Amino acid sequence: MKIDVVTIFPEMIEGAVKYGVLGQALKEERLQIASHTPRNFTEDRHRHVDDRPFGGGDGMLMLAEPLQKCLNSLKHNNSRVIYLSPQGATLSDEKARALANEEHLILICGRYGGIDQRVLNENVDEEISIGDYVLSGGEIAALVVVDSLSRFIPEVLGHSESANQDSFSQGLLEEPHFTRPREFLYQVVPEVLLSGNHKAIAHWRKQVAALVTLQKRPDLFLIYLDEQRADLAMVSKKKRPDPLSELLAFWRSLEPKERLVLGLTLQEKDFHV
Ligand code: ADE
Repeated sequence: MKIDVVTIFPEMIEGAVKYGVLGQALKEERLQIASHTPRNFTEDRHRHVDDRPFGGGDGMLMLAEPLQKCLNSLKHNNSRVIYLSPQGATLSDEKARALANEEHLILICGRYGGIDQRVLNENVDEEISIGDYVLSGGEIAALVVVDSLSRFIPEVLGHSESANQDSFSQGLLEEPHFTRPREFLYQVVPEVLLSGNHKAIAHWRKQVAALVTLQKRPDLFLIYLDEQRADLAMVSKKKRPDPLSELLAFWRSLEPKERLVLGLTLQEKDFHV
């Protein structure tokens, strides 16, 4: 996959993608990221990339012509052109996964008061926002998009399965993790994790993930619960306990010190959803 980022601050992109799993994937050429500045497509002596808006008003706009020329130099038949903007649809795990399937992405980063609308009309397939707040430019948003989608490109993550196990992928947040030592700051790693019983560990992790989700994101928990109930109705003719009752029973079975080490502050009343 190739990602071209159009920005007047290419160093912002180049500097940030050098690190961690993304940096490693670039080094090993499992993904290509390049940044391009419209400034290289100016023809005036001062290489202007901005100008005052028609009709007056605060701020400057990115000039149409250098930007269009820059885009023309990058676009081909299979390019998907994205403009980072607070007006776009909010980025989600699902969106990141879909973008990872594209062959070529062009991410346009706005600066100043925005971009001449005609360039957007001509080129943009989709606008994406990273949240309901306004950044001073699209670069940080572009980096968020690149980072989140790269995790869905096969082999970018060391362990190709792990993107599917992360928070959101299964509709649940992740359970807490622990490494050595077994006891730290008077907090002890839950016994089951040391048991070597993989089936028991998997079941325990799923239940703890459900509790974490109920505590931190009750909105996501309700969606998860509906899905669990629907699945249960489909597969099982025998009467099985309701997933919420099962989760409550699991939570009751945890000792206070176990709840503490898991960061769980749930009360009985929180199960009345
Ligand atoms: N540019 C400025 N603010 C933004 C946001 N919230 N998301 C994406 N791009 C932006």
